Amino acid sequence: MFKANPDYLQLRGSYLFSNIAKKVAAYKEAHPDTPIIRLGIGDVTQPLSKSVIAALQKAVEEQAHAETFRGYTPDLGYDFLREAISRVDFGRRGVSISPDEIFISDGAKSDSGNIQEIFSKDCRVAVCDPVYPVYVDTNVMAGRAGEYDEKTGTWSNIIYMPCLAENDFAPQLPTEIPDIIYLCFPNNPTGATVSKEQLQKWVDFANEHKAVIIYDAAYEAYITEDDIPHSIYECDGAKTCSIEIRSFSKNAGFTGVRLGYTVVPKELKDASGVSMRDLWARRHGTKFNGAPYIQQRAGEAVYSDQGQKEIRELVSYYMENARMIREGLTAAGFTCSGGVNSPYIWLKTPDGMTSWEFFDYLLEKGHVVGTPGSGFGPSGEGYFRLTAFGSHENTKAAIERFKHLN
Ligand code: MLT
Repeated sequence: MFKANPDYLQLRGSYLFSNIAKKVAAYKEAHPDTPIIRLGIGDVTQPLSKSVIAALQKAVEEQAHAETFRGYTPDLGYDFLREAISRVDFGRRGVSISPDEIFISDGAKSDSGNIQEIFSKDCRVAVCDPVYPVYVDTNVMAGRAGEYDEKTGTWSNIIYMPCLAENDFAPQLPTEIPDIIYLCFPNNPTGATVSKEQLQKWVDFANEHKAVIIYDAAYEAYITEDDIPHSIYECDGAKTCSIEIRSFSKNAGFTGVRLGYTVVPKELKDASGVSMRDLWARRHGTKFNGAPYIQQRAGEAVYSDQGQKEIRELVSYYMENARMIREGLTAAGFTCSGGVNSPYIWLKTPDGMTSWEFFDYLLEKGHVVGTPGSGFGPSGEGYFRLTAFGSHENTKAAIERFKHLN
């Protein structure tokens, strides 16, 4: 008789955003005429840019002709895209990442979930708390998380690094030494960032303790302030201790198109000298048949001069929402952070409500959907996340609804 994977059985409930989607669907069914504004999952709302659409159309048209038709794509990605990424995302910041250290995928969620597979099962994992749930859940699935403690909402074998208001929601270096450290800056969910000097300390710590940093830079395009690193490879020595994950979803609006990439430098070796780059290439080649050609051409278009201009406009559009939410809610008496270098605003729930109590209250009274902070980890309790990815119109309407909640 077959058996289900016992590691998977340890997972509690549904994935955070699936759980929220179910709750909202139930509410919608019970109140079909109530207009709901969704500022929960960080899903984009604005159309793809002109350059991207033109590239998609051209690539589709090519599929109609035998001379330009493409079958399987190279499993690690087309050179045209890997070269553009190397030149624009890294080269222009003075960072040298060669195309063969860049692995194209169907998005940052898959990469951030899959990357743990190339590490030993007994590696100790450290995460920020609150945390993007994929990092923890995939380590639970891999049997690396230990036992779950219902009371604290934590896993025994995971090192939690609380990100608290008194430290501007930045994590402190852990006292226990981890093997794998997940960092995400600008942070999902708090919107916090760290300076280059602060990030350098993490890189030095990782190199000193032979740990690896999995650096999720999916939101780097939202950085507006100077001295905030866009890539971990801006720090000295990062190539011997860091993997970086990037997305096209948040900067270029590809949440539905699907495209992302991961950088694994050649210098990154495990304790016995195994090249993690080669291991990821082996894993990628075995389990993934390559991101679609059409999407990769669309990704390439993002790196043209016109494409860069268009995505800057798209990011500014959402950052205007972030500003409106942050200022509007602060004026309405909420305590808010984030939204300056990030499309996420992190707010304290009012009147001592738990995160889920506020979720229900906001849905019921304001018909606005957000994300309960406790869904991201125990230190998220008493907080709530809003996204700036709505339309201007819905964002303004949501702010008005917040003002009239009582
Ligand atoms: C979020 O809302 O945290 C993100 O959109 C989720 C994701 O990118 O998978």
